[in-house]
Amino acid sequence: MTTVDTTTAAADPRETTTDLGREWWRSSVIYQVYPRSFADSDGDGLGDLNGIARRLPELRELGVDAVWLSPFFRSPQKDAGYDVTDYRDVDPIFGTLADAERLIEEAHDLGLRVIADMVPNHTSDQHVWFQQALAAAPGSPERARYIFRDGRGPDGSQPPNNWESVFGGSMWTRVDDGQWFLHIFDSSQPDLDWTNDEVRAEFRDVLRFWLDRGIDGFRVDVAHGMIKAPGLPDYTPPAEGGSMGGGMVDATDLEPAIVDDEPDHPYWGRPEVHEIWREWRTVVDEYPGERVLCGEAWVDPLSRMAKWVRPDEMHQTFNFPYLETPWEGPALTRVIQASLDAFGAVGAPSTWVLSNHDVVRHASRLALTAPNPQGSGIGPDSPGRPIAELGLRRARAATALMLALPGGAYIYQGEELGLPEAIDLPDDARQDPTWFRTGGERYGRDGCRVPIPWESDAPAYGFNETGASWLPQPADWAPFARDTQRGVAGSTLELYRAALALRREHDLGLGTVEWIPGSGAGVVAFRNGSVTVYANTGEVPVELPVGEMLLASTDVSAGTLPADATVWLRAE
Ligand code: GLC
Repeated sequence: MTTVDTTTAAADPRETTTDLGREWWRSSVIYQVYPRSFADSDGDGLGDLNGIARRLPELRELGVDAVWLSPFFRSPQKDAGYDVTDYRDVDPIFGTLADAERLIEEAHDLGLRVIADMVPNHTSDQHVWFQQALAAAPGSPERARYIFRDGRGPDGSQPPNNWESVFGGSMWTRVDDGQWFLHIFDSSQPDLDWTNDEVRAEFRDVLRFWLDRGIDGFRVDVAHGMIKAPGLPDYTPPAEGGSMGGGMVDATDLEPAIVDDEPDHPYWGRPEVHEIWREWRTVVDEYPGERVLCGEAWVDPLSRMAKWVRPDEMHQTFNFPYLETPWEGPALTRVIQASLDAFGAVGAPSTWVLSNHDVVRHASRLALTAPNPQGSGIGPDSPGRPIAELGLRRARAATALMLALPGGAYIYQGEELGLPEAIDLPDDARQDPTWFRTGGERYGRDGCRVPIPWESDAPAYGFNETGASWLPQPADWAPFARDTQRGVAGSTLELYRAALALRREHDLGLGTVEWIPGSGAGVVAFRNGSVTVYANTGEVPVELPVGEMLLASTDVSAGTLPADATVWLRAE
């Protein structure tokens, strides 16, 4: 077992970085825990908070700064917890409120911050507010918390407009008295009306509830969907866009900042959302210790997304244009520079992310050979099935590139093990509402949500002691297990550990990018402070300057950088 580097461990993370006079979130690496699939202490096949608490030392050992927990609030789990009935309590499948409080405390003791996942766009249909709305009459204050409308057509039997749910089918469902309610996602997730002051006040209070319990900030779910255009006009999205609204412009076709233009989209990224972030920023700023907001905002282009992180709004947004950029040198160079420019223009750090619980894991995605819009997932019949070895090789190179960039970075649980997407899940195991709402036409996101392997030779690969698993784990995952990789030179886990340690040692998160021209068409080459980085996305090896090798994503012999590989050299 390798030892934990205690030189950077801190008793309470909220005291250290502030003392250093730096805002921790500008350079942080945040690890996403998907609680259902991380670690299961009670053996029921679903992960839980006590399971996470037990494994926290391993995250400390990995070298991340914070964990973001996907939702653990009370929920009927129709969308894996992104359908909340009580924002102030923990769902019994994950534990209790006391478990959450203990988890926050233990994380802090280890020097890790904890970010919760707030879901303000919609509630569960089981939420007391929605139940009250159903029982109340059209036009009542209870209905006004949500988006109820009369239907179209002589008898109102047609939905109020043509909007389609992100998960497939209409965005409207009819209730017994004939009115319709809006849901961007599943019909079990009615959208709240964020022009309603009562809704706003309630969420300010929910934020304080968790901030009072020591939460270090919030990842804000569907932050770009919360305001709808007045009149709810018909809209047909372009066929090539991702389900969440991203990918509608080519992420690599980046024009210089056009910060004043506003989107003409009836529900994604409306300008009125900024007012909400200013309100939320005031709330988190009331607390000591630099509590943060990071937005899930699938907003293109980057210049528009940058408006979300102006000094009085959020601290970070996920850089989805970067996530969506193919493994191609010129495209990566462009998106990196455009990100630094766009976020830099408003004084914010860029973030970098390659995987999360909604996208095909990058160890598979980067080797797909057919288009695959976000949210579609891949399954046994998908075209362009990735070659596993190529995907892993590229994923390692892509991560080594990402972790060398200045700004904040996000890691999704399991990517440090090199986990691929679980492609061959049986149909009857699938649980994503996307699968059901599209009649199996889109596989959805289950393939990136399978419980992760800890021990190669234990039931459920050490996810728990019973072997139960809410999604079946592939039979060939033993080589990915943490214990197979720990301390093994060249393993993906050790690559992540080394990269994170070097990133900290060389302060790359607060550095700058100086491009190194003339390195070859498919090569991304830059200097960040004391480190030079070369990533070869091309098909042939390229010449590498002489220098002390600090990190390599694959075996590299002196003077040559093979295809699909990244190295960090000590800068001369
Ligand atoms: C976000 C979450 C996703 C969820 C959706 C609806 O995009 O990341 O998992 O299904 O919101 O809440």
